[in-house]
Amino acid sequence: MFSKVSAIFALTSVALAIPAPSTPTDKYFWTVHNLSNKCTAATCYYDFNVTAEAGPNSAPSFSAYGCEGTNVQGEFKPCTTLGIDIPGEVTTNEESAIGGTAFNVFVQFKYKAGNTQYIVTGNETVPKGADAREFKIYASQIAAVPDKA
Ligand SMILES: *[C@@H]1O[C@H](CO)[C@@H](O)[C@H](O)[C@H]1NC(C)=O
Ligand SMILES: *[C@@H]1O[C@H](CO)[C@@H](O)[C@H](O)[C@H]1NC(C)=O
Ligand SMILES: *[C@@H]1O[C@H](CO)[C@@H](O)[C@H](O)[C@H]1NC(C)=O
Repeated sequence: MFSKVSAIFALTSVALAIPAPSTPTDKYFWTVHNLSNKCTAATCYYDFNVTAEAGPNSAPSFSAYGCEGTNVQGEFKPCTTLGIDIPGEVTTNEESAIGGTAFNVFVQFKYKAGNTQYIVTGNETVPKGADAREFKIYASQIAAVPDKA
């Protein structure tokens, strides 16, 4: 009897020791607050805050304020203020669907954990003209590169 229970225990411990995969199935997300998006004929201007709980791969929690830019900047731009406990960067971008009624809000989060630099990217589709929205952006790409520094 006793040895049977021990065997089950041992198997369970082995199963728990297998690390979780670093894939989008982790359902790691950030929360966008108070999105403002105003479009002129040629350009859309966005502004929001984004916060996160601690996540997989030692991702720290953070609060990023003043994440603003346009749909024509063509690159990720850093948020104005970032509250975070370890070295990191939160940048954002927006892409308009061609001729569409929606755009994609992108967030990229870079941070260093141990000797690894993580770059996590996600996006969410939002209707044009949507304001004051709160929504989640799920990480869709997670890159991990050794950091020799
Ligand atoms: C969202 O906007 C409201 C009203 O301006 C403000 O009170 C609130 O603090 C904002 N939330 C975040 C997370 O920025
Ligand atoms: C973002 O958060 C800051 C600090 O709480 C607040 O002052 C600002 O109004 C917020 N911006 C938006 C777009 O909600
Ligand atoms: C945008 O997000 C979707 C859903 O998470 C993902 O499938 C897609 O690859 C992302 N697009 C880019 C350009 O990263």
